[in-house]
Amino acid sequence: MRKKIVGSSWKMHVNTKAQVDALALEIVEGVKNIENVDMFLIPTFPLIDHLANILRNSNVAWGAQNMAFVDYGAYTGEVPASTLADLQCTYIELGHAERRAHFNETDYAVNKKVNLCMDAGLTPLVCIGETKAEKEDGVGRIRIKTQIIWTLEGIEIEEVPKVIFAYEPVWAIGQPEGANPEYVNDMHRYIRDVIASEYGNDIAQKTRIIYGGSVKLESAHEYIRQENIDGLFTGRFALEAKNYIAIVDLVEKYVNEKEGL
Ligand code: PGA
Repeated sequence: MRKKIVGSSWKMHVNTKAQVDALALEIVEGVKNIENVDMFLIPTFPLIDHLANILRNSNVAWGAQNMAFVDYGAYTGEVPASTLADLQCTYIELGHAERRAHFNETDYAVNKKVNLCMDAGLTPLVCIGETKAEKEDGVGRIRIKTQIIWTLEGIEIEEVPKVIFAYEPVWAIGQPEGANPEYVNDMHRYIRDVIASEYGNDIAQKTRIIYGGSVKLESAHEYIRQENIDGLFTGRFALEAKNYIAIVDLVEKYVNEKEGL
């Protein structure tokens, strides 16, 4: 069975060391007995080291919200894979809808970053998803297929399951409610089918696909019961420690019940 993941990107909401302390210390304490869920928190670049010092001896990993598309050189303001590896990041979030929209991040750039991540031993967490207009025009699946194929270009077949996909329909981010759980499950099945058609079913079955977009506690309960949803990527809701802990708890409980643990 694919191990479930519950992670949170703090985007640009947690912006000082004191704010990191307030959130992370409570989370570490609240999830210390969790065994069967992978967890991660992703702050802004300058706060990674501070967060790492809090998480280092815990069961919670950390990561970055972006990464440079080149290894080193004259690229003012960018942060390369080697720095993030040195900071002992595990997950590198790539291609989030906000980066695609505000910073012109392309599928090509995402692919370069994915390859550099893999070379550096980091785990790419690649956000894919259709916009509202693409959905309405009936080209949502084509868009997603294109994103998947671009993401994995140049990756060795056996390495593909190291990539984690976050399905984040753009129209469901920052909304009062997330996408319908059955709709998400169908999309995750489609994503897996695309991976299977490119790399074979065995690889597709090993690849984790998590959902993000206005996840809350009640909806988390529904999402996690869907066969193809391997975890949750939480935004605003998890900016309160007790909310993140509650989602992790419910996923752990679900896994333990399902696996008879
Ligand atoms: P949200 O963010 O939960 O605040 O919608 C989710 C995301 O962008 O990953």
